Amino acid sequence: MNIEVVHGPNLNLLGTREPEVYGRATLADVDQALQALGRELGVQVSSFQGNGEGTLVDHIQAAAARVDGFVVNAAAYTHTSVAIADALAGVARPYVEVHLSNVFARERFRHRSYLAAGAVGVVSGFGVDSYLLGLRALVNHLNRSA
Ligand code: DQA
Repeated sequence: MNIEVVHGPNLNLLGTREPEVYGRATLADVDQALQALGRELGVQVSSFQGNGEGTLVDHIQAAAARVDGFVVNAAAYTHTSVAIADALAGVARPYVEVHLSNVFARERFRHRSYLAAGAVGVVSGFGVDSYLLGLRALVNHLNRSA
C-alpha cells in the first residue's frame, strides 16, 4: 500500500512558525514520524510540501497514479481552494484531511474547509499526532475496503 502525504503552504516553516500554535516539531520531524508509523503498519509513505496552489494540484494529479490514498494538510488552501478540492475529487483516491491546530478553536475563516466534504474524515488539533492518527485511520479504511 502506498500513501502520499501532502503538506500545503508555510508548513516548510514548521519548528519556527508560530510555535505556540503549531509546536516545535519541524516538517522533517513530522515526515520521520510518518515514515516510522508507515513501517509499523507495513505501508509505503512518501511526502511532498508545496507553497503554490497549482504546484499542489499538479502533485496530487501526478502522485495519484502510484498511490492508494492521501493524507492532506492543505494549510491555508483548506479554507479557500476549490482547485485542490477538485483535484482530490478528480483523482478519486480516498483522503484524510489533517491539521496540527484545532481549526475550530481559531478564527471563523478557518472553520470552513473545501476539502472536508470529500474526505474520509478530518483530524484537527493534535499536533504531529493529527498526521499519525490520520495515517492510521486511512490505512484502516483502505484495508476495510480492500
Ligand atoms: C493548519 C491550519 C490552517 O488554518 C493554517 O492556515 C495552516 C495550518 C494546521 O495544520 O493547523 O497553515 O492547516
